[in-house]
Amino acid sequence: MPEPPFFEFRHVYKSFGAREVLRDVSFEVGRGEAVCILGRSGVGKSVTLKLAMGFLRADAGQVITDGIDVGTLRESALTEMHKKVTMVFQSGALFDSLTVAENIAFPLQERAPASDDEIDAEVEHWLDLLELKPVRDLYPASLSTGMKRAVAIARALAAHPQAILYDEPTTMVDPMMSHMIVELIAKVKRQVRLTSVVVTHDTQLARKLADRLVLLHEGGVRFFGTLAEMDASTDPALREFLQHDSLALP
Ligand SMILES: Nc1ncnc2c1ncn2[C@@H]1O[C@H](COP(=O)(O)OP(=O)(O)OP(=O)(O)O)[C@@H](O)[C@H]1O
Ligand SMILES: [Mg+2]
Repeated sequence: MPEPPFFEFRHVYKSFGAREVLRDVSFEVGRGEAVCILGRSGVGKSVTLKLAMGFLRADAGQVITDGIDVGTLRESALTEMHKKVTMVFQSGALFDSLTVAENIAFPLQERAPASDDEIDAEVEHWLDLLELKPVRDLYPASLSTGMKRAVAIARALAAHPQAILYDEPTTMVDPMMSHMIVELIAKVKRQVRLTSVVVTHDTQLARKLADRLVLLHEGGVRFFGTLAEMDASTDPALREFLQHDSLALP
């Protein structure tokens, strides 16, 4: 039997007051797979990630994460789930009073008992993977937005999650830094066997990373499939999205 998906959205509906944001949204993310969620601003991409994390609840339908219906979880079970599934926020949400290395060590200290040497070795590993060694002793305030994001990714990985969700990892940074973050996320994907969901309106990022892509459009899933299927699609809404996006490139 094939392995069940890690994330599964089954006919999910979500409204805020009178505003229906998601209508009958279904897609899945296999274990170890990277799925990019594309769509215009305000279409419900961040809401989708928050549903997967259990920060928001669906009005109807089911959000299944690692075999569990997230909508049924109470607070303590959600906290448990967040050890498996972690989200990298745009802001980074780093501890300002801790250095880069200390930020990365934080989830390691929270976990099962480990010696200082073991923690140091692991911090080194993540500093190295995310190319952060030169800034290990700096505080977040002195880092650029892009660097903060790299630290946030390292800290998220140090918690040893099974899945990582990124919300717009390349927005608000300059093109060079954006390129660097894409490279880092691609490297993380290659070197850590992790299920990833990346929300973006950056189709360059999506092309580089995605095994499959979801296009959210007017509340629904307009497209779900591979890059090759996306390129072959003649759907006008999909073509228009891709065309606008390529025009927006620098
Ligand atoms: N907690 C909330 N309360 C009320 N409305 C909300 C809430 N969260 C999101 N919304 C609304 O849901 C819609 C989708 O929001 P969402 O943040 O998912 O968009 P998005 O696709 O991530 O857009 P962007 O690309 O600009 O980040 C928006 O109209 C937003 O105002
Ligand atoms: Mg958003």
